[in-house]
Amino acid sequence: MSNKILVLGGTGKTGRRIAERLIQRGLPVRIGSRNANPSFDWENSSNWMDVLQQIDTVYISFQPDLAVPGSVDKISALVEAARRSDVKKLVLLSGRGEQETQHCENIVMQSQLDWSIVRASWFMQNFSEGFLAEAILSGHLVLPIIKAKEPFIDVDDIADVVTKIIADESHSNTLIELTGPELLSFEKIAQLISAAINRPIVFEEVATQQYTEMLRTYEIPDDFIALIKYLFTELMDGRNESLTNEVENILGRKAGSLESYISKVVDAGSWQSKELVAS
Ligand SMILES: NC(=O)c1ccc[n+]([C@@H]2O[C@H](COP(=O)([O-])OP(=O)(O)OC[C@H]3O[C@@H](n4cnc5c(N)ncnc54)[C@H](OP(=O)(O)O)[C@@H]3O)[C@@H](O)[C@H]2O)c1
Repeated sequence: MSNKILVLGGTGKTGRRIAERLIQRGLPVRIGSRNANPSFDWENSSNWMDVLQQIDTVYISFQPDLAVPGSVDKISALVEAARRSDVKKLVLLSGRGEQETQHCENIVMQSQLDWSIVRASWFMQNFSEGFLAEAILSGHLVLPIIKAKEPFIDVDDIADVVTKIIADESHSNTLIELTGPELLSFEKIAQLISAAINRPIVFEEVATQQYTEMLRTYEIPDDFIALIKYLFTELMDGRNESLTNEVENILGRKAGSLESYISKVVDAGSWQSKELVAS
């Protein structure tokens, strides 16, 4: 593969890991993010043709989420720019069970380029690198009432799968659903992290309206509140309470467990409280 692989969101949870793995294999990677050079911004398509120059394959992790209004237009514009350049393959990170994201998936599938779509369940790393990390550090995890369990996946598994797809030029025109190895509740995860870090984490469920009001007091932007509300209320209705075997099918090993994820984060010191770090 002589040309470059563009990793959008290349400094984020999935992109950073994918870029690292591709570079380790000696493959040429260009990071796509607002702080990269050339910069890539989903809000400004004026230089996308420059960013796509000499690119063979694009890994697309959209910001903030394919489920938000406006994502379809932006994915359409990116696909159009990719078709006008020399891009041969698109690998889209998608969400499981989200109807809105399926419009974006369809645009990629109908791009007339090679494509792979990786639909992932909720990331374990949301508790250490994502929007729940602060709550874990503060020892108080407040969420809306959630009736369903989720097959949380280790982002390292997503990165291994995507790296293999790109490096081996495999799984073209295929939609892959990735999940972790077991269904878990948020409360159970809070208990397991609490035991591992030896600090209490109070788990509290509140009515959705109370939850969104709480987010507003933290001055979280309205569109992010709407996204979080959608993810916790509509998406967590049990539609994703099932496991797939795709991590093992593709990588020839079992999907990572929550326990092994927790060990990695503890070893990295990411859940050390600020007071502990300071003392
Ligand atoms: N979290 C989950 O549980 C979950 C589950 C399934 C699917 N997903 C999907 O995963 C995707 C997010 O992937 P991720 O978690 O790997 O990413 P992430 O950690 O949220 O990534 C942040 C990355 O995006 C870049 N970025 C932020 N705003 C940008 C913008 N306006 N334009 C261009 N780049 C921007 C950041 O770099 P700069 O700041 O330098 O721009 C950084 O590289 C979403 O589409 C979501 O739907 C998430």
